[in-house]
Amino acid sequence: MIYLDYNATTPIDPKVAKAILPFLLENFGNPSSSHSFGLTTQSAVEKARKQVAKLINTKSENIIFTSGGTESNNFAIKGVAFANRSKGNHIIISEIEHPAVTEVCQFLAENGFEISKIPADKFGLINLNKLENTIKPTTILISVMHANNEIGTIQPIDEIGEIAKKNNIIFHTDAAQSLGKITVDVQKMKVDLLSIAGHKIYAPKGIGALYIRENTHLQKQIYGANQENNLRAGTENVMGIVGLGEACELVKNDFTKNYENLKFLRNKLHKNLAKITNLKLNGYLTKSLPNTLNVTFVEFSNPQILEILEKIAVSTKAACHSNDRTISAVLKAIKITPAEASKTIRFSVGKMTTECEIDEVVKIIMKIAKNNLT
Ligand SMILES: Cc1ncc(COP(=O)(O)O)c(C=O)c1O
Repeated sequence: MIYLDYNATTPIDPKVAKAILPFLLENFGNPSSSHSFGLTTQSAVEKARKQVAKLINTKSENIIFTSGGTESNNFAIKGVAFANRSKGNHIIISEIEHPAVTEVCQFLAENGFEISKIPADKFGLINLNKLENTIKPTTILISVMHANNEIGTIQPIDEIGEIAKKNNIIFHTDAAQSLGKITVDVQKMKVDLLSIAGHKIYAPKGIGALYIRENTHLQKQIYGANQENNLRAGTENVMGIVGLGEACELVKNDFTKNYENLKFLRNKLHKNLAKITNLKLNGYLTKSLPNTLNVTFVEFSNPQILEILEKIAVSTKAACHSNDRTISAVLKAIKITPAEASKTIRFSVGKMTTECEIDEVVKIIMKIAKNNLT
């Protein structure tokens, strides 16, 4: 089976695995221990913190390691909410956030906070005027994702950052999908908090990070000892942290080469699939992640969709169910109908994807589409 589901997760880069190996086999010390065993792992954790910080253009003091994108989003949103309760209870998010944001906000809504969701247009872009008009004196946080996991649309984060700054509101972005694929620079983006997920950038699963700008106060979420600048308790996941550091270094070193390659492969796939009658592109090819292609095979039957899913590892949030409840919030937000949603597939290429694999995928799908070609 050909893997085109890199937005779901990525394999570990062999160089990342190599960097982790000494911490799997030999260097087992607790980074909080003051003897040499501890000092070895402590310095590895601090090296990784620098590598992460450098990639997003900040200082290592601003990086806290977490268990992944979900925890980073929870920490950012709940952390701001509970630390700023005396200032206000209003939080603004977009309609197309990941459940790691929407579910946190649902929890907050059940606990006295007011949540506003900014709608997205048919390309998945949120309306900045609407965002500005939704701000009130009680607004304490704006959280808008950098790039969408399902359709790849990139939000104008620096403009949102400008609006947040002008109104003195803390701004969080979920960069789980954008890091490694497009430039992520916390200064240019004017964000106060930014979530990172290791397994989307060829590091292991179960590791992530949160960027926290100076003077952004968060209520601690995991209590215990005083690790991570007394913001997140628990003995550090040294292997994961070392892996994330190395993965960030690789992103930085290979950025342009990988970006061009992802874009080339994604565009080649799209160009060929566009020969299928009534193929509908969801989102953009330009203001979008270079690796993501979300399309609706409008004229395909369910068995044709199933055949694709049997042969290619892709993602579908609704295929083969025409029931409205199975449609993702993102597809609903961009006004995909239940019937279309069941024929919608996300292809996401990665740095291990080859041109031969894309050619093979095109061959498979064209065979399935033999009666649906323009
Ligand atoms: C946009 C986005 N945010 C958050 C997450 C959650 O990250 P993790 O799997 O590391 O908890 C994902 C992963 O699917 C994602 O795509």
